[in-house]
Amino acid sequence: MKKTIDLNSIVRNNIRLLSPYSSARDEFKGEASLYLDANENNFGSPLAEAFNRYPDPLQRELKEAIASLKSVRSEQIFLGNGSDEAIDLLFRIFCRPGADKVITCPPTYGMYDVSARINDVEVIQIPLVKETFQLDTARILNAITPETKLIFFCCPNNPTGNGVSWSAIKSVLESSQGLVVVDEAYIDFASYGSLLSELDNYPNLVILQTFSKAWGLAGLRLGMAFASAGVIEWMNKVKAPYNINQATQALILQALSRSTQVKQWIRNTREEREWLRAQLTAFPWVRTVYPSEANFILMRVENAQALYVFLLSKGIVVRNRQHIPGCEQCLRISIGTPEENQKLIQILTSYNEKNTLY
Ligand SMILES: Cc1ncc(COP(=O)(O)O)c(C=O)c1O
Repeated sequence: MKKTIDLNSIVRNNIRLLSPYSSARDEFKGEASLYLDANENNFGSPLAEAFNRYPDPLQRELKEAIASLKSVRSEQIFLGNGSDEAIDLLFRIFCRPGADKVITCPPTYGMYDVSARINDVEVIQIPLVKETFQLDTARILNAITPETKLIFFCCPNNPTGNGVSWSAIKSVLESSQGLVVVDEAYIDFASYGSLLSELDNYPNLVILQTFSKAWGLAGLRLGMAFASAGVIEWMNKVKAPYNINQATQALILQALSRSTQVKQWIRNTREEREWLRAQLTAFPWVRTVYPSEANFILMRVENAQALYVFLLSKGIVVRNRQHIPGCEQCLRISIGTPEENQKLIQILTSYNEKNTLY
């Protein structure tokens, strides 16, 4: 049976009463011979491409293309200046500062907590189960109250790299009147599929994806939120009028027609990930190389700080996660090109030798 929720009862009062800003391009849609409505520079712009016009505030053409790629409907898509914009908007729409709560499951992506603190919303942390990094479903279900407006899951999880069980997420979706946000930033690298196919069954499900990872377009800043049309409507009302610039809209449309290359990179990344895992596991100072469904690997070593500093001295930057509870003595390594990964292993071998010598 399909779940139902009363969206109006969880949207903040001030947002429900909001008359959204109506931009020139919101008020007039269609073709005209003279555009004298938006105080643009009608002479042109000093660039080869014309950027003198405001972009489509609702990115209709781009959403059509994404809808067809993802097999969802356009009205189920919100586009943001990175997924981080979507995360922040969800707080601003659904969480009353100083009153509502959200649940996060650390170690996980840090922006959920940062956004909560910026918006003065209390975070209830239910840590992932030690070592397996799976959800502690019973504790999560116990922690849900009427004030719990958002519950964040990251799947595959950053920084641990593992997937989270669908049945656990489903039981939380069933029990929560608030929104369950599943961040699928790394889903393209996973051996399992997206939860997008569940959108029509759960009006409280929000799925985040991004063009920053597999698509190789982090510099353009385009994040996607997929949810029921009701949730998306609120996001569109609260967002800045022209939040996705014209260059990003045009370039992402171009990129969408080059998905063959992206698919090849995903295959390469997965192969390299498994090669790197095998190599890393062989070093005697490595305690655990965690399995990964993403484009990075988390590994626990004997002395994360020493290894981090050693790599820096060789011009290699990895992410030091040792201060995050649950990730003690852990470094997170992004998967590079075959040449980069070989260089990393070569340099780590010299660290290995140094370690055994002294
Ligand atoms: C889990 C997760 N979600 C979202 C993001 C940010 O995505 P975007 O570049 O679309 O803001 C990251 C970036 O590292 C991430 O790890």
